[in-house]
Amino acid sequence: MLTEPHDAPTPLIWPRPSDAGASNDWTTFQAEIVPLLEARGFGMRELGRPLGHPLWLARRSGRAAQVRLLIATGFHGEEPAGPWGLLDFLRSLPQTLLERLDLSLLPLVNVSGFSRGLRLNARGENPNRGYGPHRGGDRPSIEGELLLAHGAELLAAARDGLLCAHEDHGPDATYVYSFEPTAEPGAFSRSLIATAARYFPVAPDGEIDGCTVRGGLIHNQHDGSFESWLVASGVPVAACVETPSRRDFGCRVAAQAALMLDFVAQRSL
Ligand code: NI
Repeated sequence: MLTEPHDAPTPLIWPRPSDAGASNDWTTFQAEIVPLLEARGFGMRELGRPLGHPLWLARRSGRAAQVRLLIATGFHGEEPAGPWGLLDFLRSLPQTLLERLDLSLLPLVNVSGFSRGLRLNARGENPNRGYGPHRGGDRPSIEGELLLAHGAELLAAARDGLLCAHEDHGPDATYVYSFEPTAEPGAFSRSLIATAARYFPVAPDGEIDGCTVRGGLIHNQHDGSFESWLVASGVPVAACVETPSRRDFGCRVAAQAALMLDFVAQRSL
């Protein structure tokens, strides 16, 4: 969710564990996620093809679905632990929990950035800026325009909560942008940072990108991000989780999967 000074001038790419290719391997990512979503009962469709790549929305409504949740990953192309973590989450999510969810997924928003290991899309646009009432002078990216055009559907999909998976190459620590309808972070936010803390040191109190961090949380920070837009539109709780991309890639993927599991488990109680 970061601001432009964090743009990587060169690609950031990591080997995947067990010699399974590289973190920017879009062909392998497609080959793994398409059958996995099908096997777990998700319907999947393209919202469009920005810059020639599919922007997918997947959805599954369980037999006992009580809560509607949205998980979104891959806004920034040099933050690949989110998309790969989503695969691990989908493989490990208990069926009993899945049946309690009406779960929607944006599995990889910025394919042209992901496949090059670069933050921005192939047009040099930031897919996590330009949304909603706090966008300032930023214009949406081509992916953002597509998501904005599906705003009502995405808002309905995130009726009971939103999780966005990001990474940060700056701080060598984890932190979370948390959104709750209370002035102070509540149990939802504290559980997510506690989960992240099982994998990485938590960012010390202070400032990141001009935002105040306390207890690893940047709370109710409204900017022109996707998550800020949906919260401003009525989503009750949301989080943008940040894993430290200077750390081991496999550990980051595991952390992202654990954060997704924590998110759906908390919201389905
Ligand atoms: Ni990011």
